[in-house]
Amino acid sequence: MREEFLDPNIGQDHEVSEETGLRPRRLDDFVGQRELKEHLDIMLGAARQRGQAADHILLAGPPGLGKTTMAGIVAAEMAVTMHVTSGPALERAGDLAAILAKLGEHDVLFIDEIHRLSRAVEEILYPAMEDFQIDIVVGKGPAASSIRLTLAPFTLIGATTRTGMITGPLRDRFGLVARLDYYEVNELESIVTRASGILDVPLHADAAHEIARRSRGTPRIGNRLLRRVRDFAEVRADGNITHAIANEALLVFGVDEKGLDKVDRAILSALCKQFKGGPVGLSTLAIAVGEQPETIEDVYEPFLIQQGMLARTPRGRVATEAAWAHISNP
Ligand SMILES: Nc1ncnc2c1ncn2[C@@H]1O[C@H](COP(=O)(O)OP(=O)(O)OP(=O)(O)O)[C@@H](O)[C@H]1O
Ligand SMILES: [Mg+2]
Repeated sequence: MREEFLDPNIGQDHEVSEETGLRPRRLDDFVGQRELKEHLDIMLGAARQRGQAADHILLAGPPGLGKTTMAGIVAAEMAVTMHVTSGPALERAGDLAAILAKLGEHDVLFIDEIHRLSRAVEEILYPAMEDFQIDIVVGKGPAASSIRLTLAPFTLIGATTRTGMITGPLRDRFGLVARLDYYEVNELESIVTRASGILDVPLHADAAHEIARRSRGTPRIGNRLLRRVRDFAEVRADGNITHAIANEALLVFGVDEKGLDKVDRAILSALCKQFKGGPVGLSTLAIAVGEQPETIEDVYEPFLIQQGMLARTPRGRVATEAAWAHISNP
């Protein structure tokens, strides 16, 4: 598979390129998300048999669960080029039209953060998705005319951390809408074990389990913790990641028993102590912990809700008993 990055910021930083190296390339190497994998296996197999482009796919779920990875896998399984862009990068309708016009037959167009597309850009996408056609306006004023451009059949893969913010008409144009769930500990264990092989770090099985258990159900966090633990093992020990070393390192980096980090704990502590358990509005809570409301909503809350520590109510966020227990006995 060839990847074409339309965003110049992608792939420069070392850790980013290391993360890219850890991405599974084929469906068989992708751990977990069993149901989604099966649906894709069938869908892509059928498209290949018919010699068509795969239907458009919308991937939703919290950051770091493998949406970008899965888009790359779809392109690899279909043996086509993946073109990468994102909602905020497409400012004008013309930006998207230019990208669409140069897609090759059956190529994958990956639009990250698709919920952040502007209205005008989104409207170009409708006929492009449905009929592989776009209308381009040339000229200005009374002399303006519109030309219809026929596109090569392609597969749009949209990724979003917010399904609720996708408009109905856009959502309806996807042939598959999938939600990625948090991973099980045993799945994360095989993900970090596989990563340790690629990064060539000696990782003991019980240490892999410990890292997996504290990864907030998220492969990206698992891989990140593995790298931090590797640093610690190299500087403070002989480089081997034993269970004791993993525990020590995770303590140093502020990852607690449940895998919560400093911000998670700040949220729970503000909720319980400052706001006496809530309910408290999202923006007030965000100010109290010094984060953006969107970051709290997309990155932190989903896991705290999944862990049963925080609840969303019509009147605001409330702490559950599990939150109180965690705060008083971290
Ligand atoms: N199922 C998986 N098996 C193995 N590794 C995975 C899996 N899912 C994700 N990863 C790893 O986690 C990292 C993050 O995944 P990815 O970038 O695809 O997440 P994302 O859902 O696109 O996140 P974001 O919403 O922040 O863009 C990847 O570099 C990859 O190494
Ligand atoms: Mg991504």
